[in-house]
Amino acid sequence: IWGQQACICPVPERARLGCVHQLAPQMFLPGHRGISQAAAKIDVEFDYDGPLMKTEVPGPRSRELMKQLNGIQNAEAVHFFCNYEESRGNYLVDVDGNRMLDLYSQISSIPIGYSHPSLIKLLQQPQNLSTFVNRPALGILPPENFAEKLKESLLSVAPKGLSQVITMSCGSCSNENAFKTIFMWYRNKERGHNSVTKEELETCMINQPPGCPEYSMLSFMGAFHGRTMGCLATTHSKAIHKLDIPSFDWPIAPFPRLKYPLEEFVKENDQEEARCLEEVEDLIVKYRKKKKIVAGIVIEPIQSEGGDNHASDDFFRKLRNIAKKHGCGFLVDEVQTGGGCTGKFWAHEHWGLDDPADVLTFSKKMMTGGFFHKEEFRANAPYRIFNTWLGDPSKNLLLAEVINVIKREDLLGNAAHAGKVLLTGLLDLQNRYPHLVSRARGRGTFCSFDTPNDAMRNKLIAIARNKGVVLGGSGDRSIRFRPTLVFRDHHAHLFLNIFSDILADFK
Ligand SMILES: Cc1ncc(COP(=O)(O)O)c(C=O)c1O
Repeated sequence: IWGQQACICPVPERARLGCVHQLAPQMFLPGHRGISQAAAKIDVEFDYDGPLMKTEVPGPRSRELMKQLNGIQNAEAVHFFCNYEESRGNYLVDVDGNRMLDLYSQISSIPIGYSHPSLIKLLQQPQNLSTFVNRPALGILPPENFAEKLKESLLSVAPKGLSQVITMSCGSCSNENAFKTIFMWYRNKERGHNSVTKEELETCMINQPPGCPEYSMLSFMGAFHGRTMGCLATTHSKAIHKLDIPSFDWPIAPFPRLKYPLEEFVKENDQEEARCLEEVEDLIVKYRKKKKIVAGIVIEPIQSEGGDNHASDDFFRKLRNIAKKHGCGFLVDEVQTGGGCTGKFWAHEHWGLDDPADVLTFSKKMMTGGFFHKEEFRANAPYRIFNTWLGDPSKNLLLAEVINVIKREDLLGNAAHAGKVLLTGLLDLQNRYPHLVSRARGRGTFCSFDTPNDAMRNKLIAIARNKGVVLGGSGDRSIRFRPTLVFRDHHAHLFLNIFSDILADFK
């Protein structure tokens, strides 16, 4: 049982971490996959029992490979090279043999841990072979079971009211096509029953109105919706993503900057949210006057890349009403929040709305990109929303099994529970080290806290990595938690013990 004070673990390094379980000493030999009794039974098959560090990270082999790769492309973003054959469950193993508890999980994109036995089994079944070997152009030549597999996978978790689904290859591609879907829907609404004019057909070919209408998509300061050109016009998290790229004059509303602890700043936070909503309405009116009609509003349920910025459920309910009042399509970007990490399958389900979204984009933990939408948003002709692959049916197969595992093991309940343990621990660390940890916040395991500044944040992440914990940053000073859905209470305790030591020693 992790997190208790008494220590009876026979291995000193583990005892120091607060391990008090009673498994035989040989269970703790380096590399053995024994785990604490608190862990769920299924983990025994594939999770390790804790971090094991052999070198600093990046180690010598990683550094050598970085040099190699950097000769071919700019590889400065690479943290270290990985050994995915040896990575299991919540643990990522690097090429120098270091085994780390991974709380970042490939930028939040591993749903049920590394090398999950259920997924491996799926790949070993002969009837699935052809799906993994042949990648069809799904828009024109789908396999016989394509619709059936979409029903088993994506449609089995479709948000309320969104009966239509299209698969894509990544998050940006999903948002890009969701924007197009909203613009086409808006134009059809405006046209009514009139048909497309010759002028529209001619002007669209030279990027001019009326064929290319001057519509806009309203987004929020601090948002991240991707790096392709349309998405980038709605991304406002870091300048380095946007620099040198031409963009659209689309409205950007402020996103609430909440004060913590929330219970102490109820009035201030309500005022802050009201200010942002007022600005949204002002911008819609202003852009209509400028003849750049706001056809849609795009928002993340929790601004992720931009610094883990939260707003209240009430804020989103009111924003949804504003979109409806002004006839704007409402696009909820669940690329990072979707898939269960907040304790519900979709983060927007926390808002408690009957009609929360017109279009919803996903990727990352969903294994495939894509979007759900209402029937009225269907493209009215073929090839309007299209690309060569339109996703990959092998990903739908994997996703169907991921969803089975989530249901079978109640991983949503697990995310809610483990998230509570994690957040409670972070709040405790915040009380003990207020000069290093502040604004602890989160929903499910989608937790984060602030550090004093960028340099300190990066230093904490580097120290944690050398102690066997992979963490991610977000915004300019936050540390974010994006573990897999098989992150359990004992992993939270393990992390908290390691990080508590780091903070105690921090200079
Ligand atoms: C909320 C959100 N939208 C869109 C994207 C873009 O996804 P991708 O990197 O797959 O293009 C991301 C990526 O981090 C994201 O967090």
